[in-house]
Amino acid sequence: MNKVKLLAMTSVIALASGVTAAQADKLTFYCSAQEDWCQLMARSFEEASGIDVNMTRKSSGETFAQIRAEATNPKGDVWWGGTGDPHLQAAEEDLTEPYESPMRGELHDWAISQAESAGNKTIGIYSGALGYGYNTELLASNNLPEPSCWKDLLKPEYKGHVQMANPNSSGTAYTTLASMVQIFGEEDGFEFMKGLHANINQYTKSGSAPIKAAGRGETTIGIVFMHDAVKQAVSGFPVKVVAPCEGTGYEIGSMSIIKGARNMEEAKKFYDWALSVDAQNLALQVKAYQVQSNTGAESSESAPDMSTIKLIDYDFKKYGSSAERKRLLQKWDEEVSTLPQ
Ligand code: F6P
Repeated sequence: MNKVKLLAMTSVIALASGVTAAQADKLTFYCSAQEDWCQLMARSFEEASGIDVNMTRKSSGETFAQIRAEATNPKGDVWWGGTGDPHLQAAEEDLTEPYESPMRGELHDWAISQAESAGNKTIGIYSGALGYGYNTELLASNNLPEPSCWKDLLKPEYKGHVQMANPNSSGTAYTTLASMVQIFGEEDGFEFMKGLHANINQYTKSGSAPIKAAGRGETTIGIVFMHDAVKQAVSGFPVKVVAPCEGTGYEIGSMSIIKGARNMEEAKKFYDWALSVDAQNLALQVKAYQVQSNTGAESSESAPDMSTIKLIDYDFKKYGSSAERKRLLQKWDEEVSTLPQ
């Protein structure tokens, strides 16, 4: 059969089965922000575009691992949310696609720097500072002192009272590990993580789980991004938010298009829409208090005031590099997680 005939037959079959139309109108969306925000983004984009969205929420490190595992046969189209480090690693490992959105002119410089440092294979969508929160009622009923620094969390009286996520699955916990290495230096940073391990009651998969548990009274202290602790406090739980006295790291939550995406046009439509004021203003509906990357997006008085928090000069280039992230996680697995508690 000649080429022209074959092409004509293929299009007739495609049209008859409706395959072409169905393929043109869907998006597989990997989301690493909080579940309720992911749901709202998916439904709102469906409404705005008419494109069907299939959303899966997984933590940052887990989504990175999934995209890498699927690299020869990509199933996802766009990855929105989650800490920037694994997005940078995905860019370096050529798992994501360069794209320069027409929306770039509306964004803060930090969002563009994130893109430029990765050959435009990712972009900043929000930022937020790391810290911790504690349940004020549990703290009082256990007669525990009020912590205000990172080093306070090493006190023996907090044994069994501190929860954080596992840095392999969670971007929040990886940011914690990389921040301790940057604040205290590598040796003392790992000594800190070992001391902390002695007080940890559970390493969760998801980064925000520890502060949800603190809100419910299942743990006293949760190490999380401060905006996740604020969400619990404004939702009525007895949670106090701490910006640690030594200073702290922060995230540039990011978005990337997956290389070889089956629905590339839809992925770009989502990407442009996700950078708009309308899309970014949805955050406040679900009490997501990160700083949005569009300069016109609304902020809330409840949101942590980044200008009053002592932020370190987090080295995204180094700690988002494939070699460094792998090295630190392996060292944590071997030297910290295996220690007795
Ligand atoms: O809950 C929201 C959030 O803290 C984001 O700010 C962050 O990018 C993401 O969760 C990280 O989630 P995880 O630690 O589960 O990868």
